[in-house]
Amino acid sequence: MAQTLYFPLLLIALCSISECVQRQYHFINEGKNWTEAQRYCRENYTDLATVDNMNDLIQLMKSVNDGRVWIGLQRMSNWHWSSGDPVLFLNWASGQPASISDCTVMYNGQWINEACSNTHFFICFQMSGGLVFVNQLMNWRAAQSYCRQNHIDLVSVRNQNENQQLEKFINDRNSSGSAVWIGLFRDTWQWSDQSNSSFRYWSTGEPNNVGGNEDCAMISQYPQGLWNDIPCHFQFPFVCHQDFFVLHKDKLIVIQQNLSWSEALRYCRQNHVDLVSVQSVEMQRRVMNVVKLASTEAVWLGLHNFCSINTWLWVNGDMVCYQNWAPGNGSTPENCKLENRKGAVQSGGDQTWISLPESHRLNFICTNY
Ligand SMILES: *[C@@H]1O[C@H](CO)[C@@H](O)[C@H](O)[C@H]1NC(C)=O
Ligand SMILES: *[C@@H]1O[C@H](CO)[C@@H](O)[C@H](O)[C@H]1NC(C)=O
Ligand SMILES: *[C@@H]1O[C@H](CO)[C@@H](O)[C@H](O)[C@H]1NC(C)=O
Ligand SMILES: *[C@@H]1O[C@H](CO)[C@@H](O)[C@H](O)[C@H]1NC(C)=O
Ligand SMILES: *[C@@H]1O[C@H](CO)[C@@H](O)[C@H](O)[C@H]1NC(C)=O
Ligand SMILES: *[C@@H]1O[C@H](CO)[C@@H](O)[C@H](O)[C@H]1NC(C)=O
Repeated sequence: MAQTLYFPLLLIALCSISECVQRQYHFINEGKNWTEAQRYCRENYTDLATVDNMNDLIQLMKSVNDGRVWIGLQRMSNWHWSSGDPVLFLNWASGQPASISDCTVMYNGQWINEACSNTHFFICFQMSGGLVFVNQLMNWRAAQSYCRQNHIDLVSVRNQNENQQLEKFINDRNSSGSAVWIGLFRDTWQWSDQSNSSFRYWSTGEPNNVGGNEDCAMISQYPQGLWNDIPCHFQFPFVCHQDFFVLHKDKLIVIQQNLSWSEALRYCRQNHVDLVSVQSVEMQRRVMNVVKLASTEAVWLGLHNFCSINTWLWVNGDMVCYQNWAPGNGSTPENCKLENRKGAVQSGGDQTWISLPESHRLNFICTNY
């Protein structure tokens, strides 16, 4: 299994002055069906990839080495009432609902789903509790807005009795034989992480739901990143995303992500200047000030041990003069037969420094100095 870490630039749009949510994409080069891919991502990262905008898509495409990967978008066949009423009763005409259309008309008492862009008369719930027949031709969204602005909402039908009343109401308006919008709609594509992002990047002619079971979305073209709908049981590599906080203070940046020391170093050098070096009491004080924000008990510093000469150095090449080691750490020769040792500052207690194997996964502090 190959796994590429990609560290995007700061997503400035998501930043306040002192806080930032950063998104990172992880390509998993292992064929899984959509559900299994989702499970993998939820266990190991945040979720199967969400793409909020073109910038996200560009970053995602940089993380993959081929075009065919699952993303976290799935067709949901959930019907909802515009009013928020639970869907407890359905009265589809035979052969309905068809797979593509997402809005509903009543026609001779039965329900048919239609493209939401079609225009029909419609029926609203009224403030007083009754119904209003609006004989203006509108598409479903416009009808919904009209009802919400002037009355309450598009009508819901909660049982057989209400269905009969509504049918009679329509017939009494001499409108039997014409189809009218009711409030039932399908929220078609949803992100696995429940993001409400409406960003889509379908290939021409997609999604086309060939065979009626193409309920999951993948990126099907490299390097353009265009999307296609595909049956969810197919197996493809996939992309997970991870969202994490970046907290700024005083040119020191605490990254609330758990990385090994070398991954942390790479992250800081790509996105900031370097892992922090603490070469004075003054800098230790600044570090103590930000390290409280971390979610791990210790936080990586730019401090590494050269085992062969039993010496600690800062990543900028300087010797360690100012020291703030916890007792038993930093002074005695390290046992580095198994693994190199690196330096971290404890986020609680007296916030002294400790020596740890470099594969430990900790938050870390980058510097912009
Ligand atoms: C999480 O990742 C590990 C390997 O990194 C893998 O063995 C495990 O199966 C993954 N979790 C799921 C639910 O797939
Ligand atoms: C329905 O049609 C009948 C006969 O043409 C007419 O008398 C009645 O007023 C109409 N009702 C409505 C609500 O338009
Ligand atoms: C989407 O969600 C965000 C926060 O979760 C919210 O601020 C925004 O208003 C939502 N947008 C829509 C269109 O619902
Ligand atoms: C995905 O694979 C798992 C394990 O093999 C299986 O249980 C599940 O039904 C599959 N899901 C789909 C949508 O095919
Ligand atoms: C990092 O590890 C800490 C402690 O094990 C945990 O509480 C935290 O949720 C982890 N953070 C992430 C982003 O995985
Ligand atoms: C290093 O310091 C930590 C924290 O005080 C302590 O738990 C650990 O035992 C020390 N290591 C050694 C080798 O004494």
